[in-house]
Amino acid sequence: MSHDNAIETEGLTKNFGDLIAVDRVDLNARAGTVLGVLGPNGAGKTTIVRMLATLSEPTAGTARVGGFDIVRDAPHVRTLIGLTGQFAGVDELLTGEENLRFIGRLLGMPTRDAKARARELLAEFNLSDAADKAAKAYSGGMRRRLDLAASLVGRPRILFLDEPTTGLDPRARGELWGLVRSLVADGTTVLLTTQYLEEADQLADDIAVIDHGTVIATGTPTQLKAKIGGQTLRIQPEDPAQLEAVGALVAERFGDLEPLVEAGAVTVGVNDDAIMPVLAADLRERGIGLTEFHLGLSSLDEVFLTLTGHRAEDNETESETDR
Ligand SMILES: Nc1ncnc2c1ncn2[C@@H]1O[C@H](COP(=O)(O)OP(=O)(O)OP(=O)(O)O)[C@@H](O)[C@H]1O
Ligand SMILES: [Mg+2]
Repeated sequence: MSHDNAIETEGLTKNFGDLIAVDRVDLNARAGTVLGVLGPNGAGKTTIVRMLATLSEPTAGTARVGGFDIVRDAPHVRTLIGLTGQFAGVDELLTGEENLRFIGRLLGMPTRDAKARARELLAEFNLSDAADKAAKAYSGGMRRRLDLAASLVGRPRILFLDEPTTGLDPRARGELWGLVRSLVADGTTVLLTTQYLEEADQLADDIAVIDHGTVIATGTPTQLKAKIGGQTLRIQPEDPAQLEAVGALVAERFGDLEPLVEAGAVTVGVNDDAIMPVLAADLRERGIGLTEFHLGLSSLDEVFLTLTGHRAEDNETESETDR
């Protein structure tokens, strides 16, 4: 293992009966950076995090966290890490401050230190005013901040954040991103799981895309976006009969990225928006009227489409979801 890697997995695998939830996953997170693990529902993100946080043992493969083996040296790993789970881990009935103090006591801090650390974190996370309110009275954004604060009581060098911003509004999401950035600036290593390409793009130094338990792409955000197009162009012709013609034109103009012709529209990944006016002129010249000509950030769904040729399916349900 390289000393630069705070997290390193090799062939990490987890089976649940016949289901291979995590399948020979190799990941590296360099110390002091953010590794983004991007994948749809049921891809295996939480299962990976739970193994790395020593909450469940791998079926096969190995992993080291902070240089320690997650099975043989599990107690030592636990002293180095913090975990903010996908589902809130705070006690509803305790106040914000009580929650943090309680964790400090569990970590073996003297009462006074636990109290001081709780106060400090509440201030840092803008929760001082709510310190004496029961956690059940917190808003979603406050809950997420308290969750994150709870995982930081022991000043972990390595932090696991499992979908930390799911369900937050854009402002609360932005605030949480700011908190993560400041932790990383202080030298913390973060493994962050997310379903949002935008979030991985904003925070991660490196991204691993997973699908059905396997890593299907890795790279920096820039490398990944070059491969998949950071943005997606969606074109809907007024006349559905012209869909194929639009598809052919887009294929011709875009060369390396394959457009998808589906559900009355053509979508394609875009790396360079200079193509937009050219394409608009082409369409106009051919007399193709449009109801939609829209450039937006690529969603996870579009990333998957480009990488796998299929939409990100929800592994937990049999039916095709359209999100
Ligand atoms: N304890 C378990 N027993 C049986 N199957 C499980 C268990 N935990 C997870 N799974 C299955 O393993 C697969 C991966 O689940 P996991 O929770 O790791 O996905 P995820 O990427 O975190 O998804 P989400 O985005 O919905 O949180 C899913 O098919 C899930 O149903
Ligand atoms: Mg999960």
